[in-house]
Amino acid sequence: MTNLSNTDPDIADRSDGDVWWRQAAVYQIYPRSFADSNGDGIGDLAGVTTKVPYLHDLGVDAVWISPFYPSALVDGGYDVDDHRNVDAKLGTLSDFDEMVAALHAAGIRLIVDIVPNHTSNRHEWFREAIVSPKGSAARGRYIFLDGLGENGQLPPADWTSVFGGPAWAAVGDGQWYLHYFATEQPDLNWKNREVRNDFLRTLRFWADRGVDGFRIDVAHGLAKELPSELPSQVELDAMPRDGLHPLWDRDDVHAIYAEWREVFNAYDPPRTAVAEAWVESSRRARYASAKGLGQAFNFDLLEADFEAEAFRRIVTFNLELAAESGSSTTWVLSNHDVVRHATRYGLPPLEGRPVKQGREWLLAGGEEPILDSELGLRRARAATLFELALPGSSYLYQGEELGLNEVARIPASRRQDPAFHRNPGADMGRDGCRVPLPWTETGPSFGFSSGAAHLPQPTWFSQLSVEAQDVDAESTLSLYRRALALRHELQSEESLEWLQGSASGFADTVLAFRRPNGWVSITNFGVSPVILPEGDLLLSSAPLDDGLLPGSTTAWLSTST
Ligand code: NOJ
Repeated sequence: MTNLSNTDPDIADRSDGDVWWRQAAVYQIYPRSFADSNGDGIGDLAGVTTKVPYLHDLGVDAVWISPFYPSALVDGGYDVDDHRNVDAKLGTLSDFDEMVAALHAAGIRLIVDIVPNHTSNRHEWFREAIVSPKGSAARGRYIFLDGLGENGQLPPADWTSVFGGPAWAAVGDGQWYLHYFATEQPDLNWKNREVRNDFLRTLRFWADRGVDGFRIDVAHGLAKELPSELPSQVELDAMPRDGLHPLWDRDDVHAIYAEWREVFNAYDPPRTAVAEAWVESSRRARYASAKGLGQAFNFDLLEADFEAEAFRRIVTFNLELAAESGSSTTWVLSNHDVVRHATRYGLPPLEGRPVKQGREWLLAGGEEPILDSELGLRRARAATLFELALPGSSYLYQGEELGLNEVARIPASRRQDPAFHRNPGADMGRDGCRVPLPWTETGPSFGFSSGAAHLPQPTWFSQLSVEAQDVDAESTLSLYRRALALRHELQSEESLEWLQGSASGFADTVLAFRRPNGWVSITNFGVSPVILPEGDLLLSSAPLDDGLLPGSTTAWLSTST
């Protein structure tokens, strides 16, 4: 048995209420696309408040809300103009307070997104920086360098941004600023004390307003150490990510989070945080330590095919890793940055395909028959039950409870993602998983808004709407509701025992595990039906076949311990 009981005294002393996040089901809201209360086609905070009963019935423990701060929405709100306010398009601070109150009254906690790697180019600091001289304090909050060439007309290096295209932009006086994402997202200089203090203020600002935790965007990117002679992009890519890379996952980033931890722990209960850190798995533990952010996203399942051996390896490895940090692990199958898992699992195997998981299918026009959407949904339901039975927190993305597919056909003129616009013909971007949710079978924008939605919704959204699924006991929505309710009752000690091995009689394509209280989850990743272990059937992601567990199906059982 992998025993993961936490022995870190920093955490062991805390009460249950302090560590609610360790095995929480957290529902991610991408606010512009969740629910629109004022008919402008953009989801807003008041819209979230109206849906609190829905979230309560769904049975989630917490909501993580993506950025709702003032923003030109160049990168879906991750281009922040002011970290301590609400975008007028999404509401006001009092709408925020009402949302928090409604969530808390329903027993749902709230995690907000903090975007510390960059601001937007409309942030007052950046506006000041571009009109201030070289070497000024205003420029010192960002990463400005002289350009190359006689008049600085060439970028300081050939670096490329994560969204494609150059990572340095000129300001017209021979200096250039670094933007690792869109041009409108200048990177902050985290060596600057004022920057550090300002974010401490931001954390307190939201914690004082009642938020329970923070999701930290690009957590592995804040600390940077640019050598006086800049390496080329090829050289940068070749450098080891061993804690000393000039840009990514530097060891000194943890000094920032140690300061943040002091802020979190000054609250009762302590505020929690989860790092979005795309680092080598073995380096995640430090972000997740009790002296740091406390938890880190684990994207390993999200990057894997629906395949038994891959899932088993990932689970074992991550439970061990979590034990190492004293934290609990996190599981993610979908979020606002990747092709939805109901679609990914309906595509041919990943082998040879890049990590973008299906974005090339979008590039090809998102045409059937490459996509087997029935199989994709069947596997998605099975994978979700597998995930929800694991120890640790599960992060669910809005719309996955409806079994939504990625929306493939969005006209170029309507696409919003800079990843699409900066890579013509090479990346379809992330709009396909950000299309506003269908709440009703008919009506303008399927109940999302009284007007037209900011991204076009396909007609097939009707049959997947909340209204259509609400009354159908076999729907994906009903499955999520039952699974989350059961998980609440069954979630126990953070450990599991694999029921594998030759004595079990399970084929290689079957994964079964038991939690200490006798809760068993079994997934058939193969095609032929298999015999279920002894026990009382609690739930299955698809009907059984003559008492057998069919292919691409998960069942939960209660067994005696
Ligand atoms: C990660 C976020 O999840 C993504 O949506 C965003 O584009 C980048 N960070 C930049 O902030």
